[in-house]
Amino acid sequence: MTSSGTNPGALPGSAAWELLLPAASAPARARGRFLQAALREAIRAGRLAPGTRLPSSRELAKDLGVSRGLVTEAYEQLTAEGYLRSGRGAGTWVGGAVRAATPRARDLAPGPHGVRVDFLPGSPDLSLFPRAAWAAAQREVLAELPHRDLGYPDPRGLPRLRSALAELLARRRGVVGDPERIVVVSGVAQAAALVGSVLHARGMREIGVEDPGSPQHDGLYAAAGLRTVPLPLDDEGLAPGPLHASGVRAAVTTPAHQYPTGIACSAGRRTRLLDWARSVDGLLLEDDYDGDFRYDRAPVGALQGLDPERVAYMGSVSKSLAPGLRLGWLLVPEFLADDVVDRKRTMDLGHPSVDQAVFARFLERGDYDRQLRRCQRAYRERRDVLVAALAEHFSHARVSGIAAGLHAIAELPGRYGPESRFVGRAAAAGVAVRPLSACTHARGDESAVRLVLGYAHLPAARIREGVRLMAAALDG
Ligand SMILES: Cc1ncc(COP(=O)(O)O)c(C=O)c1O
Repeated sequence: MTSSGTNPGALPGSAAWELLLPAASAPARARGRFLQAALREAIRAGRLAPGTRLPSSRELAKDLGVSRGLVTEAYEQLTAEGYLRSGRGAGTWVGGAVRAATPRARDLAPGPHGVRVDFLPGSPDLSLFPRAAWAAAQREVLAELPHRDLGYPDPRGLPRLRSALAELLARRRGVVGDPERIVVVSGVAQAAALVGSVLHARGMREIGVEDPGSPQHDGLYAAAGLRTVPLPLDDEGLAPGPLHASGVRAAVTTPAHQYPTGIACSAGRRTRLLDWARSVDGLLLEDDYDGDFRYDRAPVGALQGLDPERVAYMGSVSKSLAPGLRLGWLLVPEFLADDVVDRKRTMDLGHPSVDQAVFARFLERGDYDRQLRRCQRAYRERRDVLVAALAEHFSHARVSGIAAGLHAIAELPGRYGPESRFVGRAAAAGVAVRPLSACTHARGDESAVRLVLGYAHLPAARIREGVRLMAAALDG
């Protein structure tokens, strides 16, 4: 922070703002984004110097001819990113210099091994990581953290973080969020390892997994000593008949946005899954890997909220902030809680406490909600770009699973197949795609081309380029 940040500079005349931030000339839908980008760019380029005081949101909205809400949102977003500062009664002004990398050229350069466009699913846009807000939370925590919090942490996690998570998950996901049942973990992967190994220690040897499903699940539960039993889906989610017939007493499910098909588990199916769990005295392991992102449907709450004693609920920041943080949460039913916490203690003596405190602060400051809103807007737009590009280049493509999440399923007519040929040709053109067949144990229809396309991490131009390259490769 520069000293000028506490001594805000002069307000330029109103005509200057229109020149600097020509937001009103953008199409209505893009105006907010345009305004934020223009403000960011003006600060980066030094056209708005540190300390420059910005007009009130009402004044700027009037000058630019946009709604006041757009300006307020832009101020909030850029404040969260560290470009702007604000103080009660002191207005908003430009903060200290922020040196963010300009993504344009890098985004369009070829990636490693000749991959020009990587549609492999699983990653959020890492360039949206809120570095400035995270750094601010980190600074505050390091200034305030009592010495005792640098000792070995409670293996369940810092009480402050567990309380903040309980509030967040109850509010956003409908989870029954008792802080006593929360264990802070290093991601869904560790949550699965913990529950898997406790089930194994209690004599379980098999666990059901969705098919098609996440290739991660097989490996994670196999490492805990559990054989995975593939369970088929139908239009409403995990199919109850085969689940009953399988003989398993625990099953992994992704009900908010099934991985990879994108099916949202219906209300009726949720009830039947819980009935099954009760009837076998069993457990559902709910992997809520991308439940925060939904675009044009009502929120689908977590299964755990319907019966917290029959569901172990797992989530993480891997899709909302960055997988590299290795930070997640597990909510366990009472009958497993002590064993899971013991297992966590023996595994790593608890999650790093500074990281936990930073995340708690980040949540308490409202930064996490802001980040989710920001990503939600970006990802919805990218989803729309992908759907439009597929419609343009692949006539009769059927796209599904798009109401939520960070990836979509594209089903292409048989004439584009077989799938292995399609994937090979796309790779030769520099486009990496994952076929749906890589997510299933079943032998599917070899001629059908079904792709799991991750889009959230790609700028719009890249998405268009990738689809165009695939279509050209197929034509060739
Ligand atoms: C369906 C699913 N579950 C779990 C994970 C692992 O998540 P985490 O990074 O939280 O360990 C992934 C990672 O991509 C995933 O796709």
